[in-house]
Amino acid sequence: MTNTLDRRTLLRLAGASAGTAVLAGTTLAASGPAHAAAGAFRHGVASGDPLPDGILLWTRVTPVPEAVPGSGLGPDVDVRWQVATDPDFATVAVQGVTPTGPARDHTVKVAVTGLAPATTYWYRFGHGDGWSPTGRTMTAPPVDAAIDRLRLGVVSCANWEAGHFAAYRRLADRGDLNLVVHLGDYLYEYGTGEFDAGGTVVRPVEPRHEALTLADYRIRHGLYKTDPGLQALHAALPWVITWDDHEVANDAWSGGAENHTPGTEGAWSDRVAAARQAYQEWMPVRIGADGAIYRRLRYGRLADLSMLDLRSYRSSQASGTAVDDPARTITGAAQLRWLSDGLATSTAQWKLVGNPVMMARVDVGSLPAWLLGPLGKLLGIPQNGAVLNPDQWDGYNADRNRLVDHLRATGTRDVVFLTGDIHTSWANEVTTRSTGLTDPAAAEFVVPSVTSDNVDDFLGLPAGNGLSLLGATLLRSTNPHVRWTELDGHGYGVLEVTPQRCRMDWYHLLDRTRADSASRWVAGFSVGTGSAKLRREDPPA
Ligand SMILES: [Fe+2]
Repeated sequence: MTNTLDRRTLLRLAGASAGTAVLAGTTLAASGPAHAAAGAFRHGVASGDPLPDGILLWTRVTPVPEAVPGSGLGPDVDVRWQVATDPDFATVAVQGVTPTGPARDHTVKVAVTGLAPATTYWYRFGHGDGWSPTGRTMTAPPVDAAIDRLRLGVVSCANWEAGHFAAYRRLADRGDLNLVVHLGDYLYEYGTGEFDAGGTVVRPVEPRHEALTLADYRIRHGLYKTDPGLQALHAALPWVITWDDHEVANDAWSGGAENHTPGTEGAWSDRVAAARQAYQEWMPVRIGADGAIYRRLRYGRLADLSMLDLRSYRSSQASGTAVDDPARTITGAAQLRWLSDGLATSTAQWKLVGNPVMMARVDVGSLPAWLLGPLGKLLGIPQNGAVLNPDQWDGYNADRNRLVDHLRATGTRDVVFLTGDIHTSWANEVTTRSTGLTDPAAAEFVVPSVTSDNVDDFLGLPAGNGLSLLGATLLRSTNPHVRWTELDGHGYGVLEVTPQRCRMDWYHLLDRTRADSASRWVAGFSVGTGSAKLRREDPPA
């Protein structure tokens, strides 16, 4: 997301029954959260990108004390791994040995195959006489399986210096989730004190300076992987993750970034290559042979999940009427074709899209400019009005129109965007000039940040202050497709998917600076099949 004006201005597969299956939630309650502060596996364990017959497993080994992240020190070693159907590893389903070493920062990624679908597994890694903490994961159901329910934790934007990752801890403790979806800004590149943290550095980053080199990004990834809440959630559930800008640098586009200065900070291509290599090493993400991070997973006939990469192929951010320029793109042509075709031809009931930046329009005038027609043209106002945040889809109108028009032309319904980036909570109906206001093309649920600053933090006021409430009211009054927004809370979302509806519930932390902070439910909205109009929901039972 953009770091200056806009943000400040605003701001159970286990229980199969006849013909169908319920995806039982999985949490690592029996084994307790992974605490790996010392020993060879101090960065925890993780799993990701479940398939019906496989899972991606991750860890990092510290074979000798000097082999710290980014050091390039330490020997090449073999790491054992086991996947079992029980937490005591009495029945090992598959096991193996994987080499690692300083060339890959002693990270270990194993694409395990040959597993049974919709099955809970426990996994661990071994080095010398020791074993890592135990992780728990679950494979995806068969592609054609009828699934009654799927429950996801949804998160984005975790600034180390602004607090502790209690949002991850609270999700790990729930015990009713199948998966975690992370929408990006898993980490931030800034040096200490360079990124707002409500004016207070709760805990300083490593390295202390802005991440620029391969060693820097490795050290930053290593630091994040020591957070106990983050370790607990990785060990408890498989994650499906995409990246946004801060995994490289603020407001990144294909040829540069707001927070990158060629010359003093080297070539952009070198920085991206360094950040990408560290990301590939440290994240439980399946990355294509061509380097593609965008990809699609599927949960039976209930849902598929398209994860977008909105940084690697986009045109530079623009202002004024340039946001309408059809030559500009946020997805790149190939990814937009992949997305449009994938949504239109999907045989899943729900088409979920992991979408790093907000899709819905945010108009700042008293009327959307596209209702003003020729007057907007005369005044030089972009078709969707003056753009508040050109880093969002608002800054790339042509791609948004192409996507929505394709959904309309193909009769594609039941598309739900899961969005992060803007550190605030929103329930949106996605509309464009071609849909009008009454028949939105899709629903969009935007989750707040795990810790990163939002409106009350910028204002130096308590959560729920009058200015934040006024801002939310004004945003809603000029944006009727925004059904709800809250500008102060940090936390997470929980998405429940059933054949009949998708429901998002938002939970906010009481205190982002506390590792043990409780959270509270603040709102729920749902969308039913056939129409993207949202319904407000009561608190969950
Ligand atoms: Fe962010």
